[in-house]
Amino acid sequence: MSDITTVILAAGNSKRFKASKSKLIYPLCGLPIVSHIYNTAKKISGKNILIVCNDKNREELKLVLNTSNFVVQKKQKGTADAIEQVKKYVKSKNILVLFGDTPLVEVKDIRKLESKFKRSKAKASLIAFNTIKPQGYGRLLLNNNYVEEIVEQINLKPGQKKINLCNSGILIANTKLLFDNLKNIKENKIKKERYLPDICKIFSKKNIPFNYIECSKETMLGINTFDDFNVVQNILQKKYVRNFIKSGVNFLKPNTCYLSYDTKIEPTVTIESNVTIKEKTFIKKGSIIKSNSYLEDVVIDENSQIGPNARLRPKTKIGKKSKIGNFVEIKNSKIGNNVSIAHLSYVGDSEIGNNVNIGAGTITCNYDGKKKHKTIIKDNVFIGSNTSLIAPVVIESKSRIGAGSVITKNIPKNSLAIERSALKILRNKRSK
Ligand code: UD1
Ligand code: CA
Repeated sequence: MSDITTVILAAGNSKRFKASKSKLIYPLCGLPIVSHIYNTAKKISGKNILIVCNDKNREELKLVLNTSNFVVQKKQKGTADAIEQVKKYVKSKNILVLFGDTPLVEVKDIRKLESKFKRSKAKASLIAFNTIKPQGYGRLLLNNNYVEEIVEQINLKPGQKKINLCNSGILIANTKLLFDNLKNIKENKIKKERYLPDICKIFSKKNIPFNYIECSKETMLGINTFDDFNVVQNILQKKYVRNFIKSGVNFLKPNTCYLSYDTKIEPTVTIESNVTIKEKTFIKKGSIIKSNSYLEDVVIDENSQIGPNARLRPKTKIGKKSKIGNFVEIKNSKIGNNVSIAHLSYVGDSEIGNNVNIGAGTITCNYDGKKKHKTIIKDNVFIGSNTSLIAPVVIESKSRIGAGSVITKNIPKNSLAIERSALKILRNKRSK
């Protein structure tokens, strides 16, 4: 769409969000709200995107979007004033306006809008949606399927409160006609802001055609409050889960799990209840993630079992047919195939080979108070329960460590290492 410049309005003060940072950088399923809309905009107009920000959130947005296409709106004088800031930068015939706080809009919705706009030869088209909870949204007044006016919540007359057809804020317009008429938008007396949707009334009075399409409210909701944030996040979660279920993933209690925007799960995986999957996680086929497990930046190879109650932290790789059991924490470690770490262990900064058994309560002591050190356990090793491995340490292949040992030296191949003080039995010392 080379004849379109996309403008993302992101200069609002996030007042209703009641947070110290801009609401637009809050992670929605792991990705900042504004990045969701920015990624969609890129699919529509490539690099031809402008973001209207304010003095305060410019750096925050720059950091997450990794672009410098910002135009600053110094004072937050409303959405019409925000659009006016980009006037001198827009060279294309048409302009698409997106709102930074309406992140679920899909490329297909925008394509549908563009198609109606071009087919109907209207000079502007917007996306509307129907909802039984229209509070907070601008309502559409229609005349023969054209938009005659948009009335904002605070200006609604009593009879208009029942209108369910709402403005999503997303519109496409002929650039010249939009900018020529923007200056006629007056300040709203109550809010002291100039409203972009007031452009409808101006077009309508001049008989410039302004029409609309309707999309599902599921993709058009805006985020003003934390309540809205939760509603939108739940919609996105349900969408992710639905797509995985369709592709052949088995969720035992789908509504209890949290997935991230970039989660990858192959068909035939089972996910039990209350599983949290944060960013950068990939679970390969045949694996089972049991209840209450927490995974972040982890790759789990085929046919492994994780949990219940396991915590897999960033930069962890689990091989094939391995078993990570309850109350096991693993961080920054590579675990081979057919490994069992079944109960109550901490494995950090480690490399574990194939066919290794790690007994209950084994701890890699990776931190000396200043630095982190590595533990290497080679193939076919057996580590007895309650072992402390003081890193840096290497356990060579086919060795065994006796239960309860504190291992402070490298252990050579095929050895048995045991570090345990002799058991004393003193007779007739009963406690009570
Ligand atoms: C806006 C629309 C409303 C629509 C709703 C959809 C206006 C006046 N109202 O209401 O009709 O139903 O969105 O979600 O447009 N912004 C700026 N500069 C400003 C003010 C806002 O860049 O001076 C940006 C905000 O960051 C936000 C967007 O514009 O991304 C919309 O502003 P917001 O204040 O959230 O408008 P709503 O009250 O939600
Ligand atoms: Ca909003």
